[in-house]
Amino acid sequence: MPLHRIVFYSSNETKLTSSSMRDFVRDVLDNCARLEAISGLTGALLFNERFFLQVMEGDKVAISEQMWKISQDERHSLMVILAAGAIPRRAFLTWTVGYAGRSPELDKLYLSYGPAPKFDPTRMTAASAVDLVQDFIKAEHGQMVKHAEPMALHPD
Ligand SMILES: Cc1cc2nc3c(=O)[nH]c(=O)nc-3n(C[C@H](O)[C@H](O)[C@H](O)COP(=O)(O)O)c2cc1C
Repeated sequence: MPLHRIVFYSSNETKLTSSSMRDFVRDVLDNCARLEAISGLTGALLFNERFFLQVMEGDKVAISEQMWKISQDERHSLMVILAAGAIPRRAFLTWTVGYAGRSPELDKLYLSYGPAPKFDPTRMTAASAVDLVQDFIKAEHGQMVKHAEPMALHPD
């Protein structure tokens, strides 16, 4: 089974408060952990008040099925696919959902991947979006970062 990856961004239609944000992170992460166990999909989702940026990796049929579901979710709109295709190996071994807020460290990170010191996936290439998400996870200075428990991936 060749591995595939999709990278997309969309507009956040939710009104973010700290409790709605907690609920959102918990809800999506629970779904993602379930999905990882069932179909071996892994990835990451970063969001702020304006945007979502998601990377999803695994089997192309499982990715497509999930994309149909996500596209019907009313918490966002205007999905734009930055890239979709085969990859030699995963960049994400589990699921992470994180709030891409502002801080001096995070602003520096955004500036290294885009023209302005803010989280704006509309101005990034797919490659820089994936690198940004990986750096964000590594640095762990994002707020509201939650990782799903790593689970055994399906052998096939
Ligand atoms: C931007 C965005 C990205 C999402 N990404 C995922 C995801 O990767 N995996 C997932 O299971 N749910 C994700 N969700 C939630 C799904 O849209 C949906 O609520 C979930 O698949 C529930 O499926 P169910 O109806 O089968 O329970 C996302 C929602 C949003 C708004």
